Amino acid sequence: MAQRRIGIIVNGASGRMGYRQHLVRSLLAIRDQGGVQLADGDTLMPDLLLVGRNEEKLRTIAERHGLENWTTDVDAALEQDDYEVYFDALVTNLRLDNLKKAIAAGKAIYTEKPTAETFEDALELARLAKDAGTVSGVVHDKLYLPGLLKLRRLIDAGFFGEILSVRGEFGYWVYEGDWQAAQRPSWNYRSEDGGGIVADMFPHWNYVIEDLFGRIVDVYAQTATHIGTRWDEQGREYAATADDAAYGIFRLENGTVVQMNSSWDVRVHRDELVEFQVDGTKGSAVVGLHGARIQPREATPKPVWNPDVRDGHDYRGDWIEVPDNEVFDNGFKVQWEDFLRHYVEGRPYPFDLLAGARGVRLAEIGLKSAAEGRRIELDVLEG
Ligand SMILES: NC(=O)c1ccc[n+]([C@@H]2O[C@H](COP(=O)([O-])OP(=O)(O)OC[C@H]3O[C@@H](n4cnc5c(N)ncnc54)[C@H](O)[C@@H]3O)[C@@H](O)[C@H]2O)c1
Repeated sequence: MAQRRIGIIVNGASGRMGYRQHLVRSLLAIRDQGGVQLADGDTLMPDLLLVGRNEEKLRTIAERHGLENWTTDVDAALEQDDYEVYFDALVTNLRLDNLKKAIAAGKAIYTEKPTAETFEDALELARLAKDAGTVSGVVHDKLYLPGLLKLRRLIDAGFFGEILSVRGEFGYWVYEGDWQAAQRPSWNYRSEDGGGIVADMFPHWNYVIEDLFGRIVDVYAQTATHIGTRWDEQGREYAATADDAAYGIFRLENGTVVQMNSSWDVRVHRDELVEFQVDGTKGSAVVGLHGARIQPREATPKPVWNPDVRDGHDYRGDWIEVPDNEVFDNGFKVQWEDFLRHYVEGRPYPFDLLAGARGVRLAEIGLKSAAEGRRIELDVLEG
């Protein structure tokens, strides 16, 4: 039982996602637990090389966590042969160039989503990686939410019978920023800075839908900029040019219809900030980030429409809570472990740069559908 070292370059280590989710809650947590367990009994221990643009911030982070290796020079980091994995959590518009350099340097790639700003660029990355024989992985965190893991269990158990439809509600009220500060960065609301709820959320919906329900064959989306004026981090008024709500309908190869409402202008009257209702011939489920409730066919009430009489039936009370039955680990960490096992042991892994490109495509096609007011088909995407 040996411990094997794996060198990982962490670019964007000081960012919101790079620091908290990937460095602290994933890579350092993996080190603390003694590494990633491999099938042959060995463990894999990450050795990290932090990269960022701000020397002071990097030094502070490195010292706080007892790390010795950091640099502000990404090219120098990529030249180091004993760091074979390159991870990218930079702002999206810097990703393409950095991933290209990392592929050219022969690194394995693990990256935040979206993999690029345009589908053309995302596909180019996937093809470059394929030609170079690069092992790649793209973050797909929503699939590791406890609620969605329970949904996966229900699907695998055949609970639903044939899945007819899925209705998802995602969103919450994001303050405009005038009399109360906004709780999201202002660039999210400016299309010229890469903002917009479609660009942000459709890459997530793509892998969630593909992995749980099936291949998307066409898309119709209606987008809106419901709130056209917002106030930024400095309290300055700005024009909110990006879409802040998207109402999408996705038709799947197997006939299932998925409808997703995504909005930053909605007040929550749900149990969780995202919820999916899945209706199948044999049963239905409502799952959120953590919770999941089911109603099998055998326990389905038989409502009769009569608007003249107030209906006293407790419809919510008919549902059964799905128990956890296990301790759910942090999804970002589990994803790292899955990717590293895939890289080292060649375990199957569908979330590569081509999958990432499909996510970017769904966002791009969603925006096109909204702009042109029509349903648009999606081909099978070959690498
Ligand atoms: N998986 C998810 O659920 C999820 C959630 C939020 C964000 N993201 C993605 O993660 C990425 C980072 O988002 P974030 O919210 O952490 O952003 P952030 O602004 O907090 O961090 C971005 C990082 O990029 C670096 N950076 C910015 N400009 C740079 C420049 N000119 N040169 C060099 N480095 C520069 C910053 O120093 C920082 O380390 C984005 O692509 C975003 O789409 C994913």
